Amino acid sequence: MTATEQPTATVQPVTQPQTRPASRPVDPDKLMAFVFRAVDEVGATLNTALVVMGDALGYYRAMADGAGITPSELAERTATSEHYAREWLAAQAAGGYVEHDPVTRRYTLPAEHASALVDESSPAYLPGFFQIAAGTVRDAAGVIEAARNGDGIGWHAHNSDVHVGCERFFRTMYNAHLTSEWLPALDGVVAKLERGAAVADVGCGHGASTILMARHFPRSTFTGSDYHAGSIEIARSRAAEAGVGDRVRFEIAPAASFSGSGYDLVTMFDCLHDMGDPVGAARHVREAIADDGTWMIVEPMAGDRVEDNLNPVGRAYYGFSTLLCTPASLSQDVGLALGTQAGPARIKDVVTAGGFSRFRAATATPFNNVLEVRP
Ligand SMILES: C[S@@+](CC[C@H](N)C(=O)[O-])C[C@H]1O[C@@H](n2cnc3c(N)ncnc32)[C@H](O)[C@@H]1O
Repeated sequence: MTATEQPTATVQPVTQPQTRPASRPVDPDKLMAFVFRAVDEVGATLNTALVVMGDALGYYRAMADGAGITPSELAERTATSEHYAREWLAAQAAGGYVEHDPVTRRYTLPAEHASALVDESSPAYLPGFFQIAAGTVRDAAGVIEAARNGDGIGWHAHNSDVHVGCERFFRTMYNAHLTSEWLPALDGVVAKLERGAAVADVGCGHGASTILMARHFPRSTFTGSDYHAGSIEIARSRAAEAGVGDRVRFEIAPAASFSGSGYDLVTMFDCLHDMGDPVGAARHVREAIADDGTWMIVEPMAGDRVEDNLNPVGRAYYGFSTLLCTPASLSQDVGLALGTQAGPARIKDVVTAGGFSRFRAATATPFNNVLEVRP
């Protein structure tokens, strides 16, 4: 057996003296309910890595046909060690991700779970969500340190599971909604794109949204930009693979200085809140957009008040906000730190300060607000 060397990121212990909390009456039932809930959450935290493991090793794909499988069969089908396949299957059964038959001792992946875990074309496809969560948690030690001294952590500084997980998670939503619902919800934009429009996709990451729009609107041209050179390199290769390289150009540029002018449509997908100076970005969009152009801002679903977001989607997004998006903004000039859950009213203030006069919540999904901004 060989041991794999792992780099370790350590969390520094607190330095101030620890004090016992003041004695307050404790309801023992409430305490135990909280402890059991916490046990479930620790299981769920570990399950994030187990889902990434199942996705990476092809465990879910090997079970997608719905036939009951034993650990040794799973190991054989995936060319992996049976010890790992056995423990993984049991953990997945304990979490309700697969079903276990105690008589046949076989494990089954329900059809609905296969759709969410294996089928990349499904609007419910989940592995990217787990991958970005696992990558985010892996980098948390740095965030703890940054919170102590007020530093930021740029998007570029994260491990590739954050970048690739983000692409896979958001691409699922763009495939499901972008051309069928979001663009049609904007006033007159689809007609322009069909005739042939100039589009700037700012903060485009790996270019999932840029490439999808380019495929759908063959008469239009697209400029994707992002400050992160590594993301732009991948976006270029994705565009070439998709065969849209002739109408899509990617450039390394911050939102405050992407190139071009007279754009009919400027898009920002899940990135405005990550920017240090979103007002500066809005000012530049105002300079670069045509007078009758449209700026589509897709932001994570959020209401304007904390209490609007205290639900499962808000919980996930506040988690990403603390560990990814707020540190990203703080790493840049101004460091406005809007947060992932800024909400439409705060975004309206930002774009208004940048020189735009019209703002409308065009449509929404459970995960996103789609905002229409016009000069
Ligand atoms: C959550 S990711 C979204 C990426 C992409 N829009 C998508 O939907 O897959 C946020 C992106 O914003 C980019 N970003 C952050 N600050 C930026 C800035 N000031 N200018 C340009 N891009 C920026 C990051 O590099 C990252 O690619």
